[in-house]
Amino acid sequence: MKTYQFPQGFLWGGATAANQIEGGFHEGNKGLNIADVLPGGKERLNILMNPGFDFEIHHDQYDYPNHEAIDFYHRYKEDIALFAEMGFKAFRMSIAWTRIFPNGDEVEPNEEGLAFYERVFDELQKYGIEPVVTISHYEMPLHLVKEYGGWRNRQVIAFFERYTRTIFTRYQKKVKYWMTFNEINSSLVMPIQGLGFSIQKEEDKYQPTFQAYHHQFVASAIAVKACHEIIPNSKIGCMILYAPVYSFDSHPENVLYALQEEQLFNYYCGDVQVRGEYSSFMKRYFKEHNIELEMQDGDLELLKEGAVDYIGFSYYMSRTEKKEKSDEEASQGNIIGGIRNPFLKASDWGWEIDPVGLRISLNKLYDRYQKPLFVVENGLGAYDKVEEDGRIQDDYRIDYLREHVKAMGEAIEDGVELMGYTSWGCIDMVSMSTGEFSKRYGYIYVDKHDDGSGTLERKKKKSFYWYQDAITTNGEKL
Ligand code: BG6
Repeated sequence: MKTYQFPQGFLWGGATAANQIEGGFHEGNKGLNIADVLPGGKERLNILMNPGFDFEIHHDQYDYPNHEAIDFYHRYKEDIALFAEMGFKAFRMSIAWTRIFPNGDEVEPNEEGLAFYERVFDELQKYGIEPVVTISHYEMPLHLVKEYGGWRNRQVIAFFERYTRTIFTRYQKKVKYWMTFNEINSSLVMPIQGLGFSIQKEEDKYQPTFQAYHHQFVASAIAVKACHEIIPNSKIGCMILYAPVYSFDSHPENVLYALQEEQLFNYYCGDVQVRGEYSSFMKRYFKEHNIELEMQDGDLELLKEGAVDYIGFSYYMSRTEKKEKSDEEASQGNIIGGIRNPFLKASDWGWEIDPVGLRISLNKLYDRYQKPLFVVENGLGAYDKVEEDGRIQDDYRIDYLREHVKAMGEAIEDGVELMGYTSWGCIDMVSMSTGEFSKRYGYIYVDKHDDGSGTLERKKKKSFYWYQDAITTNGEKL
């Protein structure tokens, strides 16, 4: 069987987000963020995708799974010890902005929040695990959403700058790898989480959405510059949701449509954050949608100066497109759209499984940007069964991961510069899109269920041992 050569120092590990693991949503003076008002269950996806959300908590109507999540806030030592046992070299996590600035617009940070992450970083350091920190992972302070209108408001840039300077300064000796906004392009389909607002009518979305994006790009560039200034050996990246777009057939109109979907969804944000400028495709797009970005003097220079060091991206699936499509053809469960691909199988949630697509993505991104890449999310959401003897035999997850790791090995042979792999949900947690616990990604099972019950006990799945072998042999034994 073919073996693969991963570079020395390859950052093998797992990925999480504060709001999906921590719980303790009221503890340590934390303020409310957007994830705290998202209910659990299938209703959640409706709310994320559709306008009219009121940003309130309705205890009488819904459960809020993020409030306790898997209680990493109190159990981080136990969890980090398990990551260390698997051999993790890196752990991707996010800082909840509202633990540091509970409302987002304070002048002084919250010491309890700062101290919490310090303890987490110290614990990781104890085992030689590098933290890879997402600064904003769908966790905008609710106060900024309600009082300022989210990222539509240019004032938010200054609040974000204060937040980033605070954490860079405090953790300068503890964190080398950073990323600014999680899946920044996802706000094109789900503006609530990333941009902090929802729009009532489809036709009204263009100007505010792209203006808000401009503010985020400026904020990201300022953060990159500050990070380099405060932590000279740091590496700071962007984070993109990447799904290569295949044309349904060779009809030139469909091929062109697939290309344009990539130019918009896959490359719009990366181009600004990596190349430091808006692409020519976007300039035409703005014109055609009557979008006039308000910019201040110096914004364009800032974007250039604040180009990122690497491209972090999530990869779960590819997307197949055709210009005219019917609802029946739609690829179910895939929040980024597309139609069903007859050559691919799908997960229990309808996400199409395509390891070759990861090799394609790595090649496309590297060809376009020639900067180091980092796969910071990838994994299989599945139902797991605890057998009578307590074992969890998740061979389907192992198969999925093995094929994706092989695809990375092939891409490395293709010449792609790849820094690491942090698979998503190394420990079971709340699903971002559905708020379920039963959609599990972990190597570590957590006894927590959709109705909120469970002991929170952690158990090692079969995939735990598989990943341990993969890491120990630096990807040779898969
Ligand atoms: C990514 C997000 O889109 O996918 C994560 O960055 C999320 O926050 C992950 O959890 C998997 O999605 P889901 O909806 O299955 O949890």
